[in-house]
Amino acid sequence: MPGDSVKVAVRVRPFNQREKNAGSSCIISMSGDSTTIKNPENGSTKMFAFDYSYWSHDSFQENGEGVFTPRSGSTKYTDQRRVFQDLGQGVLDNAWQGYNAALFAYGQTGSGKSYSMIGYGPNKGIVPITCEELFKAIETNKDSQKQLQVSFSMLEIYNEKVKDLLVKSKQATEGLKIRQNPQAGFYVDGLRNVPVRNYKEIEKLMEQGTVNRTTASTNMNATSSRSHMVITIRFNQVIRNAGGESNTRSSDINLVDLAGSERADSTGATGDRLKEGSAINQSLSTLGNVISALADIAGGKKNVLVPYRNSVLTKLLQTALGGNSRTIMIAALSPADINYDETLSTLRYADRAKKIQNKAVVNESPTDRLIRELKEENARLMAALGKGGGKADDSEELQRLLRENERRMADMDKTWEQKLEEARREWERGHGGVDHEEEQAEWRRLPYFTNVNEDTQLSGVIKHCLRVGETTFGKSSTATYIIRGLGIQEQHAIIKNSGSKVTMEPVKGAKIYVNGIKLKAKQELCHLSRIKFGSSCLFLYVGQVSERKANDEKEYDYDYFMAELAEHRGVAIDLQTPKINESMENLKSYVLFQEFMDLLPQISEANAISLELNKGVKFEAEIKTPASHDALQHGGKEVIIQVTNEKTKKVWIWSKEKFLHRKDLMEELYCRYMDGESLPMGRDTDPFWDPVEDIFLGSCHIMLQSLSYCVEIDEHFTLHNYHGKEEAVMRVKIFPLNDKGEYLGDESIVEPRELLGKPFNFEISIPECMGVRWCSEDRSRGVYCKFTIISKEPVKSQTVWGKGYCDFGLKHRVREKKVTQEFINYLQTHSLVVELWGSQGGPYQSTLNEEDQIHQTFNGSNGHAQSDDVFSQLKNKDLEIEHLTKDLDAMKKDNFNLKKKLDKQQTQIDMKKQRRASTTDVGLDADLAQALRLFFKDVKTVQGQISEIKEYAKMSQHGSSDNGNIKKALGKQEQKLHEVESKLSGCVDSLKESVANTLRKAKR
Ligand SMILES: Nc1ncnc2c1ncn2[C@@H]1O[C@H](COP(=O)(O)OP(=O)(O)OP(=O)(O)O)[C@@H](O)[C@H]1O
Ligand SMILES: [Mg+2]
Repeated sequence: MPGDSVKVAVRVRPFNQREKNAGSSCIISMSGDSTTIKNPENGSTKMFAFDYSYWSHDSFQENGEGVFTPRSGSTKYTDQRRVFQDLGQGVLDNAWQGYNAALFAYGQTGSGKSYSMIGYGPNKGIVPITCEELFKAIETNKDSQKQLQVSFSMLEIYNEKVKDLLVKSKQATEGLKIRQNPQAGFYVDGLRNVPVRNYKEIEKLMEQGTVNRTTASTNMNATSSRSHMVITIRFNQVIRNAGGESNTRSSDINLVDLAGSERADSTGATGDRLKEGSAINQSLSTLGNVISALADIAGGKKNVLVPYRNSVLTKLLQTALGGNSRTIMIAALSPADINYDETLSTLRYADRAKKIQNKAVVNESPTDRLIRELKEENARLMAALGKGGGKADDSEELQRLLRENERRMADMDKTWEQKLEEARREWERGHGGVDHEEEQAEWRRLPYFTNVNEDTQLSGVIKHCLRVGETTFGKSSTATYIIRGLGIQEQHAIIKNSGSKVTMEPVKGAKIYVNGIKLKAKQELCHLSRIKFGSSCLFLYVGQVSERKANDEKEYDYDYFMAELAEHRGVAIDLQTPKINESMENLKSYVLFQEFMDLLPQISEANAISLELNKGVKFEAEIKTPASHDALQHGGKEVIIQVTNEKTKKVWIWSKEKFLHRKDLMEELYCRYMDGESLPMGRDTDPFWDPVEDIFLGSCHIMLQSLSYCVEIDEHFTLHNYHGKEEAVMRVKIFPLNDKGEYLGDESIVEPRELLGKPFNFEISIPECMGVRWCSEDRSRGVYCKFTIISKEPVKSQTVWGKGYCDFGLKHRVREKKVTQEFINYLQTHSLVVELWGSQGGPYQSTLNEEDQIHQTFNGSNGHAQSDDVFSQLKNKDLEIEHLTKDLDAMKKDNFNLKKKLDKQQTQIDMKKQRRASTTDVGLDADLAQALRLFFKDVKTVQGQISEIKEYAKMSQHGSSDNGNIKKALGKQEQKLHEVESKLSGCVDSLKESVANTLRKAKR
């Protein structure tokens, strides 16, 4: 029998608010069944062919009931009904014939999986429409010999644990067990499979399931888009023949809403020592491996092992993938350029999935045979048990199987009506006889809190009404509304409703934010106030009925909450995100901005877990500029996480991937802690711990251009960190040398060309480094510097411990046997990047450091006020020096640009000269080289003076204990600064003049 290929549909959604704010462009286009994606960086395209390509991006309108339909006159837009007709109807037809069917949605978070599967409001998705249509068809059955039975189950897989979403009460921490039997394959032991008599009952169960899912995800915020939801509809047709024997035709319809695909391969790619630790993404990554293996098999590859057993999800989907099922996959796509990478990976995934071949068979067998088989199986189990002698584990398993069989037999003995009645009673017990609609009525007339979740599907699901009087929120079972989660206290908030006014007051120590601002005392709540309890529990306050307007809550989604909280935390953004506007640079900075924003709640949760588990570790997100390491100052920015141990002051830098991976582990740890488990003590599995590592502190860029004119460099450079803050000042000397290693006089070379073909050597030395903040903050720390020159191995200094002022004693010689044009180009275009790295946990060397001494001296003297005054003057002077250094840097840049202009002019002149075949040599290069040399020399003098000033400052700060000396030093400092200023303007003027002269000559 030929196999059934997995059918694949792709669907592209409209832009979401984030993408609109950013001015994103659409990179997906569709024509017939083919889908094309455009790379926003270079415009290249890739085309994929699928069974269906659904355009739901634009060309739609909203009818009066909020349903999206194709815009009149257009057939481009695919609405929910059409998706059902193409895919859902086929699933139903298969079910009637007795085939198993499966439909699963794949795609990144927010791409539209749940929209297609479940739907939103009036835009119902495949699952509800399929159920509705199934019952519509059932109702037309008039055959009294045919009984049609539908039952419903709903589960969630999170962190490899299965949770029954139809069970309201607390479930075992380890979740439900997956078992296997020869007939059914893998199944979830103890999962509720609720008999239902109409669509309304399914709707109620789905609602209940969603509430349970939301509660769990609010308790531990991040679970929503990382959990998988599986809904199974079991459809049995029991047909009695004339002889009174019955035949059962059955079909399992599995509907799977998968977790966001972006997490599929984050584990392992992080380079983290705790590689295998987390189970959160195991199901998703195994699903990818299973699909790849099945695609390989379909492609004719032999001996391929399909790793179904490696995850809970793939065990449960074994029949759906490569087994007895007719399967459909919907790949949900974001249209936006910012999601290009993830969308392309979804398309590739879908392309592999379409190759999979299944072998669906009709599930039909006489009911009596089923009972007979169960009885035989029971007898066999009893015999095996009777023999005994086996291992204790074995006999336990036999007994369990026996119990399970008996339960199934008893179940078969019951009539369908009995089962329906039991389910009805069970529902009433679970809901205390309260009619849900009755509950609903309350929020229609009372102010209430409604939950806001990262997953839109789970937002607005919970509504906590605020009756007149007092309402409390907290972990305690005595609170009116029990909320759990990070940073939630036993009693957290007290809300009072006077009938016209609602106020909220934090219980002592409780962390509550209202509209992004920390709540310190009782405050009145306004309609649509945004509330955050603890670290991740978000609610929107909906006020009195008179204040409400239709759809006014819509604007306040998860993104709004996050942006508002970030803004109040000092992250410099307004609620409008940056615009992309076609430019690649803007696109990159927008992606970076979003990454940063998405990380903030994760960071705050990690900090809260650290606090609750008493780990003493603090996390902060930062933007790293790789240009700080790059000699050509290229490279994009990226988000990094600085991790600080607040007790030891040790610091680590984690990549975003590593942090997210560790965050998964932290969550797991926290869940275990919440469940009362004792936590592992070892460092080997501790997500908060890492061995000490060296930290990049800052770098400086030294242009090598002057070296190509044989002019030495001897300057003080400021090393800046990722934030552009000063980390230290370093003196760097680069001297050209002759063959014998002696310093080369700079008069012999007029222009770089003269170096060609000759040997050229130079020496880089770093004699001193001052004001090292890293070590001044903590004397147990050390620093070293390193650089790379001409793609050679990095050169690294020794580590100096515990000193704010240090000599690395680093000298490095570069020998170029024969100068090439390439070498000259290198010098002219590259910078030497000297990086300063911090070491930690090294030997504590100094006993009483210099700063302590000076501190003691001042404290011991009588003239407190006077010394403070002197100190502040010194500080001001330091600031002045800093400004001067900056000016100097700017001027250097100015001159460099001028030089570039000149070069251009020069080339034009050269060409003119050649044309005129003139013999007159204007000697522009020589003039220019001379001018530049003079300039560099002047700058060197200025630098020397600045360093002298710094020496004075150092002297007055460190060496002197009497105020008279300090004043003298200050006086000198002032005088020197004056000289520096006039010298600087002088040197720039003279260079400008030289340049102007040269230009004049050039024009002649
Ligand atoms: N075809 C569509 N038409 C209109 N809106 C859509 C469509 N698809 C998705 N959306 C909207 O996009 C948002 C995100 O969609 P959805 O919740 O389905 O994503 P998801 O893939 O399930 O995400 P998650 O992985 O977080 O569960 C929702 O607000 C939804 O209404
Ligand atoms: Mg979803």
